[in-house]
Amino acid sequence: MLVDSPGIFLESGGIETVLPPVIGHRGAAAYAPENTLAGLRRAKALGCRWVEFDVRLTADNQPVLLHDDRLERTTNGHGRVSGLQLAAVRRCDAGNWFHSSFAGERVPTLEEALMLLAELGLGANVELKAVPGREAATGAAVAELLARIWPGNPTHLLISSFQRAALAAARDRAPHISRGILFRRIPKNWRNIAAQLGCVTIHADQQRLRPAVLSEIRRAGYPLLAYTVNDPERAKALFDFGVKSVFSDVPDRLHGATARGGFHREIVADSGSAAIPR
Ligand code: G3P
Ligand code: MG
Repeated sequence: MLVDSPGIFLESGGIETVLPPVIGHRGAAAYAPENTLAGLRRAKALGCRWVEFDVRLTADNQPVLLHDDRLERTTNGHGRVSGLQLAAVRRCDAGNWFHSSFAGERVPTLEEALMLLAELGLGANVELKAVPGREAATGAAVAELLARIWPGNPTHLLISSFQRAALAAARDRAPHISRGILFRRIPKNWRNIAAQLGCVTIHADQQRLRPAVLSEIRRAGYPLLAYTVNDPERAKALFDFGVKSVFSDVPDRLHGATARGGFHREIVADSGSAAIPR
């Protein structure tokens, strides 16, 4: 879809028309072990239309859902995923650390997760995580798999990353899949970075968002997605300031949150130093 904004036409691929206000973070991380099939199912049960999850490569280049390179925090395994074969990663239990009722959950392959998303009718923000030196390989492998087997409407799919080399590789391998650039604090040259990588969405840490840059992003026609928001009042404030979507561990608590006043109020650029008020 073409978005008319001062001075530019942004090809945003229609994604802003399908992005929901609340996206389940790592599935629904407060209710089920993060980045597991159980987490994706829980997000659906909690009313999510989209989920976010993290994907990285095993030593044999298989994309799996896991936030950390190390296994210890979210499984009963040890070591680095990037140094282990898929078969070894699959032997780990990825649910029992969270609660015994989730014992037996495995680290999902990306392919398994995509099949489940199709069954559940969920859209996905696939976040690329790569160890240093493996950024391009990760972006290429994940984009190639998504291009080959994503069973749903491609509009309901978004690849994001903090790692620009991973996004560049995804762009080269599957240019038709929408991309979003992740920032902690949004840099002044955000627009150049997004343009170079062909990104259609901007993702940022909600704690470090500044009204002036948010206003600039909105005027340029890019949807802004903010992570991680678990407080409904905070979600309302962010929607007021024009944030399109928030990632949440507790998506059910935020479903009722909308912009106060029912529409996004205009943001007046400030000195750029003040954060969005809490
Ligand atoms: O994609 C939003 C958010 O998940 C980015 O940070 O560390 O939770 O993957 P992280
Ligand atoms: Mg993530």
